[in-house]
Amino acid sequence: MDLGLKNRHALVLGASQGLGLGVARALLAEGASVTLSARSLDGLETARAELPDAQRERCDFVAADLADATATERILDAARYDGRHVDILVNNTGGPPTGMPSGVAVAEMGAQYDKMVRPVMELTLALLPAMRAKGWGRIITIASSGVVQPIPHLPISNALRSSLVAFMKTLAGEVAADGVTVNVMAPGRIATARTQSIDNAQAQRSGRSLEDVARDSAATIPAGRYGTVEEFGAVAAFLASVPASYMTGSVIRVDGGAIRAV
Ligand SMILES: NC(=O)c1ccc[n+]([C@@H]2O[C@H](COP(=O)([O-])OP(=O)(O)OC[C@H]3O[C@@H](n4cnc5c(N)ncnc54)[C@H](OP(=O)(O)O)[C@@H]3O)[C@@H](O)[C@H]2O)c1
Repeated sequence: MDLGLKNRHALVLGASQGLGLGVARALLAEGASVTLSARSLDGLETARAELPDAQRERCDFVAADLADATATERILDAARYDGRHVDILVNNTGGPPTGMPSGVAVAEMGAQYDKMVRPVMELTLALLPAMRAKGWGRIITIASSGVVQPIPHLPISNALRSSLVAFMKTLAGEVAADGVTVNVMAPGRIATARTQSIDNAQAQRSGRSLEDVARDSAATIPAGRYGTVEEFGAVAAFLASVPASYMTGSVIRVDGGAIRAV
């Protein structure tokens, strides 16, 4: 199937590693050009350097901390450099701290909102008018399975990401007739540095080894294993594609069956 992504330009946030990089690589493999963003310049340089030659020349990057009030502007300047139009926006951020809901420091919610929600809404709203004017656009927001089935030790993630799901669903209805689709992806457990650090925290809480925690966690997933960033990226590339034009306002699970509800 031709995904129709050649000559499309994508901005992918949180793209120096993990899910964001997996999505960026899938889009590049389909012929899109991509602007990567994350905090670490080294991480971005490495991510770009490891691409196949033909993809590297379609990839640039901008280092910016989404928590920084000026980040949105710098990211937009880089993504729209030289009059370039952004066809595809992939919203992705770092994850918040873990802990039980009864122990949440409420002030932390505000700080995490400024990293996980405010910049995502700013970038989405900044890029939307040109997508609508062009009659084509894709806005994909990476959330978590916790927005469908809240994860016990990730209360801040569950709460803040759910607010983004509600916003994106509302937006999807407003812009569907303009050729702009707005979807959310809900990863379950995809093998990345973040998954490993969550398993590490669990290992420390329970006094068990990381290997035991990861094995038991994988055993709770019907697929019997964590997903790969390639599997995740492939779903994102389809959502970004031309053939996915009638898919909007959805939360798409990539979870090996981990969410138990229909
Ligand atoms: N992996 C999963 O199975 C899974 C499941 C549910 C939800 N999620 C969520 O999905 C998101 C991505 O997951 P992941 O596993 O790919 O995480 P990851 O491996 O930790 O990657 C996070 C990416 O975001 C960037 N980033 C972090 N904080 C940032 C900030 N303040 N400003 C700009 N960029 C920032 C990181 O680069 P720098 O450090 O260089 O900034 C990195 O590129 C996270 O929010 C995670 O909680 C993941």
